[in-house]
Amino acid sequence: MPAIPKTPDEIKEMRTACRLAAEVLDYVEPFVQAGVTTAELDRLCHEYMENVQHTVSATLNYAPPGYTPYPASICTSVNHQICHGIPGPKSLKKGDILNIDVTVVTQAGFYGDTSRMFIVGEASILAKRLCQVTNECMWLGIAAVRPGGHLGDIGHAIQRHAESNGFSVVREFCGHGIGRKFHEDPQVLHYGSPGTGIELVPGMIFTVEPMVNAGKAAISELPDGWTIITRDRSLSAQWEHTVLVTESGVEVLSISSACPPPAKLITGTLATATAAAIAALPPAPRP
Ligand code: MF3
Ligand code: CO
Ligand code: CO
Repeated sequence: MPAIPKTPDEIKEMRTACRLAAEVLDYVEPFVQAGVTTAELDRLCHEYMENVQHTVSATLNYAPPGYTPYPASICTSVNHQICHGIPGPKSLKKGDILNIDVTVVTQAGFYGDTSRMFIVGEASILAKRLCQVTNECMWLGIAAVRPGGHLGDIGHAIQRHAESNGFSVVREFCGHGIGRKFHEDPQVLHYGSPGTGIELVPGMIFTVEPMVNAGKAAISELPDGWTIITRDRSLSAQWEHTVLVTESGVEVLSISSACPPPAKLITGTLATATAAAIAALPPAPRP
């Protein structure tokens, strides 16, 4: 099903929700250090959402059909964990890579969803390259978004870049429409062919969130019922932004003052407009 385009008022609310999600990542970044537990990162983010932002985590107690309620306010997916990693008592160590995925709900009832990779200390050359290539995949996917374009343009751009670097794209999880609900239509696949899938229309809002594995694409699920890992235990990375289809192209909504700028291989209006929009934002409040 195609996404229902958002109204100008809804777009304004989504800009706020997505910036707030990004600001949780800005806030937690300095705490991502060797020795910290992922449970501690979850606690910090939870308190920031509750006490500073007055937002609510969309993931805490999230229970889609067939799942037990998700027990944490963020997802922390470390090394060979692909996504939906449940924060716990294990400490991060030097050389770990992890994705932190934040989805907040504002008091107005809008969802903002974004995730980034973090490197603990100095990572291996492979780990750094995987994080960078996956970031480039996300940005190439975003750069493929334009009115009159198709969903398959996004997936194709992502798949081509991941695979030409010797990596593989996870198939079982995809980007999604988002608004007053966490997961709306359409499904945004991270692989595919140009010109296929629904046509993109101004006002559509969805996430682009490629998961890229250093080894094979196959996944396994841990007995906790949530955490997804690479079947071959190879490293995995993911980046996520929420984006809006505009009259002229695309706007990245999940930006904040400390969010990483567009990947260097992105040029033109997307790169300059996004960098300018990031620079115009005040720093996230710190408690
Ligand atoms: N934030 C994830 C996404 O990008 C979904 C997490 S659901 C959870 O769609 F329950 F695992 F937290
Ligand atoms: Co998402
Ligand atoms: Co997410």
